[in-house]
Amino acid sequence: MAAFPGGAAGMNDTPLELVSAGSEKTRQIGFDIGRLVTGGELILLIGELGAGKTCLAQGIARGAGFDGIVSSPSFVLVREYQGRVPIFHVDLYRLEGDPEVTELGLDEFMGEDRLCIIEWAERAAGLLPPDNLSIRLEHLAPEQRRLSLKPRGKRYEDILRQLSEQWN
Ligand SMILES: Nc1ncnc2c1ncn2[C@@H]1O[C@H](COP(=O)(O)OP(=O)(O)O)[C@@H](O)[C@H]1O
Ligand SMILES: [Mg+2]
Repeated sequence: MAAFPGGAAGMNDTPLELVSAGSEKTRQIGFDIGRLVTGGELILLIGELGAGKTCLAQGIARGAGFDGIVSSPSFVLVREYQGRVPIFHVDLYRLEGDPEVTELGLDEFMGEDRLCIIEWAERAAGLLPPDNLSIRLEHLAPEQRRLSLKPRGKRYEDILRQLSEQWN
């Protein structure tokens, strides 16, 4: 609400924006996010093909304690990795709409003991919990992306506060 301009409440509506100058930088940003994961988080990745969603997910999984290879789940829809908590990496690219997303059963991939990362999350817009961290990636130049991080709910506001302290 606008009742406290400049205060915590006002800050929450403004996405945190970063520019990444290359895929390694995007992975590093992901790593910093993943390090803060304790289980129960839902991270939505939004952006066109090649925007860097999988690249960011690689960093997040690494930060969350998974040391193996993270590749795109486009064809398999979901991959599971074991980090500090189980990590479910979902890609809705090939799904056509709500009925197919419902059939996939996203609920199984979310819960207090796990991390869920969803690429093309906008394809499940009405089916996702209201509390989440959404990250939009946009092409600025061949090697440059803008990342806009938007927290919804206290847990994610806390994560964003820690990130902005670390990145400043
Ligand atoms: N700053 C950047 N951040 C992320 N990826 C970048 C960046 N600059 C270039 N790239 C390249 O863009 C591509 C992103 O691919 P990917 O992460 O699979 O995208 P998506 O999952 O959004 O389709 C990769 O080939 C990567 O090397
Ligand atoms: Mg991808």
